[in-house]
Amino acid sequence: MHTTEPVVLDHDPAALDVLWRALEPESPESTVSIRAVMLASIDGTTTVDGRSGGLGTPTDRLVYDAMRARADVILVGSGTALAEGYGPARTSEVWSGRRDRPAPPVIVLTRSLPDRLIEHCAKAGAGVQIAAAAHTPPERIEAARAAGVTVHVMRGGDYAESVRALLTDLGVTAVTFEGGPRLLGDFLTARLVDELVLSVAPEIIVGGRGPGLVIGAEEKRIPMRVAAAFSCPRGGLYTRWVVGDERPPGGAREGDDTGAGAEHSHDGPSGMNG
Ligand SMILES: NC(=O)c1ccc[n+]([C@@H]2O[C@H](COP(=O)([O-])OP(=O)(O)OC[C@H]3O[C@@H](n4cnc5c(N)ncnc54)[C@H](OP(=O)(O)O)[C@@H]3O)[C@@H](O)[C@H]2O)c1
Repeated sequence: MHTTEPVVLDHDPAALDVLWRALEPESPESTVSIRAVMLASIDGTTTVDGRSGGLGTPTDRLVYDAMRARADVILVGSGTALAEGYGPARTSEVWSGRRDRPAPPVIVLTRSLPDRLIEHCAKAGAGVQIAAAAHTPPERIEAARAAGVTVHVMRGGDYAESVRALLTDLGVTAVTFEGGPRLLGDFLTARLVDELVLSVAPEIIVGGRGPGLVIGAEEKRIPMRVAAAFSCPRGGLYTRWVVGDERPPGGAREGDDTGAGAEHSHDGPSGMNG
């Protein structure tokens, strides 16, 4: 069993380095890597009172901001952009020394391009753009553009190919995908997600009203492998999972002496203070 004493971040800034490195993608930088970032309570609930913020901890914020600081682009579903009131991304002060370019654009995925979304993105400014599905009615696209919103129109056909084509056209490789649960279900089903960075808030919501981590019409099992895991004194768990990577039955990987796939060493810092 892998256990470590959590390190209090305020007293050990080296913990920031450990966290940053733990969020390094496994795939080479030159290839497109789509990494979902989600926050859930232990029972899998993703919102309290309709928003994810109620579940947040300072460490989750660090993880979220680090994933934004690493990204070339942020993708998000229209449901989330509206529910959470998405504005343009900003690089947090904590991570600003590790990013030498402007914050990434936020691109909101939509099929119907409702008026509410147009108004929202127009107000948010150039940092929040739209990617409309190929079959989005052209008059909706015209309305958004007339309101000053940048609209990328995705290609038709296979969903995964249309998302990948969008990313190729944008010339991006590091993609942070911020959900929500419905689009995450579509992305996972389409094999678009390479990694999941999941913060588990230190609480259980009995009778929660929010959606679970992932929503889909059909049951589909997706193998995952834990690549990094942190805790913090306040009790949250911060994890990075690689998608679609099955372990050999009953066996550890070569060179894996923890048996748990955890990335950090027994003597390195492993915790945060939030
Ligand atoms: N805890 C967390 O980490 C977390 C993260 C994210 C969100 N959330 C919560 O989850 C809720 C929102 O999530 P949600 O699952 O309802 O919505 P969502 O996944 O964010 O967005 C769904 C929307 O995405 C668009 N979409 C779906 N398929 C598409 C496709 N093939 N091409 C282009 N666009 C497509 C559609 O937009 P149109 O309807 O515009 O066509 C659809 O309604 C909110 O309460 C939010 O707070 C929690």
